[in-house]
This record gives sequence, C-alpha cells and structure tokens, in this order.
Amino acid sequence: MRALWRFPLAPAIEVAGWFSCKRAKSEGRPPAPLGARILTNPEHIFRHNMWDHVQWSEQEKEFARQKVTENSREKIPVAEQAKFDIDASKYWDGFYEMHQNKFFKDRSWLFHEFPELLTTETPGCILVPEPGEGQRNGAPTLQQGSGGDGETADFPGKQASFRIFEIGCGAGNSVFPIISSIRGTGSFLYCCDFSPRAVRLVKDHPGYDGSVCHAFVHDIRQGGAVLPFPPRSLDVVLLVFMLSSVHPARVQDVVSRLAHFLKPGGVLLFRDYGRYDLSQLRFKKGRCLSENFYTRGDGTCVYFFTKDEIHELFKSAGLEEIQNLEDRRLQVNRGKKVVMRRVWMQGKFRKPCPSP
Ligand SMILES: C[S@@+](CC[C@H](N)C(=O)[O-])C[C@H]1O[C@@H](n2cnc3c(N)ncnc32)[C@H](O)[C@@H]1O
Repeated sequence: MRALWRFPLAPAIEVAGWFSCKRAKSEGRPPAPLGARILTNPEHIFRHNMWDHVQWSEQEKEFARQKVTENSREKIPVAEQAKFDIDASKYWDGFYEMHQNKFFKDRSWLFHEFPELLTTETPGCILVPEPGEGQRNGAPTLQQGSGGDGETADFPGKQASFRIFEIGCGAGNSVFPIISSIRGTGSFLYCCDFSPRAVRLVKDHPGYDGSVCHAFVHDIRQGGAVLPFPPRSLDVVLLVFMLSSVHPARVQDVVSRLAHFLKPGGVLLFRDYGRYDLSQLRFKKGRCLSENFYTRGDGTCVYFFTKDEIHELFKSAGLEEIQNLEDRRLQVNRGKKVVMRRVWMQGKFRKPCPSP
C-alpha cells in the first residue's frame, strides 16, 4: 500500500509518495520557467502539475524536521559505510542495468533555467597566456594532467569555440537535448559517468553524435586522472542531480577540481536535491549514513543540500555566485489528487576573470 502523508496545514491535500519505486522519479521541473506558476488561490491547485515558490508554514517546517530527525536517528554502522563510497560506481552501474534509460525523464527545463548552455562564446575575460601556454579557439592549451604536450596534443572538441562538460550524465537526459541544440553552432559537449553501462547507453543512443559530443567513463572523484581536455578550457560545467551522489567529505574536492577546468569567465550550472525534499522525508529508518546523507535500497547514495552549504562549497572553489536558489514547489498528481512538497537547489557560479 502506498504511503500517504498529511501535512498539518494542508488538510484537503494528501501529500503522498505515490511512486511504487524507492525514489521519486520526476526530478526536474516542467517547461514553464521558474516563477511562472504561483498558487494564489488554493482551490486552483489541481489546475497545474507544478507550483513555484511555495512558502512553508512553521508547522510544515517542523513536520519535515521531525521526519528527518526520526529517519536519521539510527545511522548505518561506520564499519558498513565504506562500501557505499568504494563501490559507488558498481551500485550506479547496477541501477542502469536494472532501469536502462527508462528512469529519468529528459530535462525539458534545461534551457529555460540554463540558457548559458545555448551561448556560443564566453564573454568577459581577456586571457593572457601563462608562460608555456598557447592559445587557440579561446582555450589556453595548457599541459594535460599527465604531462602531455598541451601545445600540440590533439583532443576531442579542440576546434570548438564553446565547450560544455556534464558530469554524471547518466543515460543522457541532458545530453540529447544539448546535442540537438548545439549542432552547427561551434559548441562541443563532453559528458562522463562512472557507470560504464550509463556511458554505453549514451553512446548507443541514435541521438549520439560523435562530431559534437564525446562521452567517456570517468569517476570525477579521482583527482589524478586525466580528462580529455586541458585545464581552463571549459565554458560550462553542468551538474544535474549528480553532486548529491558524492560522499559529503569528497564534494569539495570534486567542485574545486571542476573549477580548475573552467575558463575564467566560464560558469558552473548546478541543480540538485534540497534539504527536506519529499524524497528525504520518505527515507525509512536505518538508511542514514550521516546527517542528511542516505543510501537507497539499491546502494546508491543521496545528500540533501542547503543554500548556505552550496554557497560555501562553490565559494571555497574560487567561484562567484550568480544564482543560488532554493526551489520549493508543489508537485501535483492531478489524476490521483495528491500533492508533494519538493525542494530543489539551483545555482550558477562563475569563475572570475584574472585581475589585470
Ligand atoms: C541521479 S543520477 C543523474 C543522472 C543525470 N545527470 C540526469 O539528470 O538524468 C546521478 C548520476 O551521477 C553519476 N555519478 C555519481 N557519482 C559519480 C562520480 N563520482 N563520477 C561520475 N559520475 C558519477 C551516477 O552514475 C548517475 O548516473
């Protein structure tokens, strides 16, 4: 039987986990831009499947806090925790073996919220090559991490005028909308996932186009590993529901590493789970690894961020905040007449230009 939760101040509305699977499938938002749908009359709630900028009452906040206190009281013993980090790629690979490309939906909101993906040049910074650097197509050709010859080395997308890198691309729900939009624009997309099955799904998809995209298997936690482009060569780094999978103790390293690959003036675009999202409240006791970090039944992990944490994370990586918002909304199943409170974080952070 599905679990129905009634939030204290919403007596007419059942707030439900209507999904039969272990996680909320619909991570994202509808095509209407954020802020376009504000619920002013509660009687209109079933007119749309999503409402923006929902205020929570004190009672609702307290309800959420209590749920989280309850489900995180019992932590998984430390001795059993390491496997969720060490074998993270195996757990995600198992996920893609099970669900193939059927789980996540295409990110239809992507270009509404992140029009930066459709830009074809990064404005702003005048790059002065450092000693030993060349410069071609807006990208300083630095030496690669392994000591490769940055000046002469070839790399996929070298001729591109604009380079995007999506980390944790999964089955390609952002990749394929991006590929369709960048053909013929001079832009190039790199995408990686540490699940070999996910990358296989992307490469075998009929929409995959090697002339504008390079998909590869890579664990972004591995600091020393070589990426197929030089440092300071990316215009956009894209993280869609990916950072939450990384152990909180490793997140800062990951973000700092990504910042290193951005061009000055380049932007990092981020969307992920927020604190007290429905999917956090739905965790049962015994799934908590540490505060706000849980493992699901299939071994994959998820963290729930706050605005302050996001701010600190990207600031510590040397990035300037352009946007950092907590996207609180009501997700409505009009057929079943149930409403869910979702919390997603959305951010944009720019790598500053070097001072003249
Ligand atoms: C929730 S899924 C999101 C997939 C995709 N971004 C989307 O929006 O549909 C998280 C993805 O991040 C990948 N991932 C998690 N940790 C990773 C890591 N350290 N390096 C590379 N990929 C990782 C997982 O394999 C999974 O495909």
